[in-house]
Amino acid sequence: MTPPLRKAVIPAAGLGTRFLPASKAIPKEMIPVVDKPAIQYVVEEAVAAGLSEVCLVTAHGKEAMEEHFSRSPQLEAALEKKGDRARLAAVQHASGLASMSYVFQDEPQGLGHAVGCAEKWVAGEPFAVLLGDDFLDERDYVLDAMCTLQQRTGGSVVLLLEVPARLIRMYGSVDPTPVSVDDLPGEGEIREGLEVYSLARLNEKPEPGEEYSNLAVIGRYVFNPALFEVLRNTPPGRGGEIQLTDAINTLAQMPPQQGGGVYGIVFRGRRYDTGDKLEYLKAVVQIGADREDLGQEFSLWLREFVDSRSGS
Ligand code: UTP
Repeated sequence: MTPPLRKAVIPAAGLGTRFLPASKAIPKEMIPVVDKPAIQYVVEEAVAAGLSEVCLVTAHGKEAMEEHFSRSPQLEAALEKKGDRARLAAVQHASGLASMSYVFQDEPQGLGHAVGCAEKWVAGEPFAVLLGDDFLDERDYVLDAMCTLQQRTGGSVVLLLEVPARLIRMYGSVDPTPVSVDDLPGEGEIREGLEVYSLARLNEKPEPGEEYSNLAVIGRYVFNPALFEVLRNTPPGRGGEIQLTDAINTLAQMPPQQGGGVYGIVFRGRRYDTGDKLEYLKAVVQIGADREDLGQEFSLWLREFVDSRSGS
């Protein structure tokens, strides 16, 4: 039995070029979705799965993320003095969420390289990886099931999204074989109804005709720590970057005794990709419309707005 999972690595050191010029001085992971930065939703997702130790992979110039998760005595004192308990609680929630650590990626050499920067911090335990600019709706969280699957199999687990065939070239594609949860080794309940696959191979951003399926890897992973050794031996791939997908492909072909074996769970819930402008806009609207404090008024306005546009 592998040790219980408690660590999450969140790579957030990228350049965020798709969000320029906003991401020039502000990390794209800090761009707010209603009133919380995207990265806070990601940390909340990790914590909800029981991962209370979080390591952000960050870069110089992105210090706002560290500040966001640190205490702010002056601000807290000012809110306290005003008796603004709700905002004080919101500010303290961000700094008290998790035990936060930071490692720096000196140059954005790819997602695989970013995860590799956390090797020392992970210290040989199984761990989760959550990308810093996309997050799942809390009603549809699945990271806990991914952790249980990792514990049961000892291998690694990725989250999969079924995408239209024409879009698979933007993702990593997987070669899946369905598995029955009852046939898996180990113990620990995995929620009923989840589609689980064993993955034989993966390829990053496949050319047309080279995709293994239209199941795409999306930004949630739980790894056997054997990943790090594999990453060290993974040459730069697409775009000259060390690709995490290439390393997962190697893991998929390694025997379980060496920490190999890769499984996938299909995600069929709500997901917000805030690294992309259009998807970001959709996220703000969806989360705004669902908010208890704003949703009703916002939805009314939104309906009027859409009506005023239709036919114009
Ligand atoms: P993305 O590819 O979405 O981020 O990586 P990016 O490179 O910052 O964005 P664009 O394409 O230029 O707009 C997903 C996550 O991985 C991190 C990013 O910060 C993001 O949260 N990442 C990516 C790193 O930490 N290091 C890298 O070298 C690349």
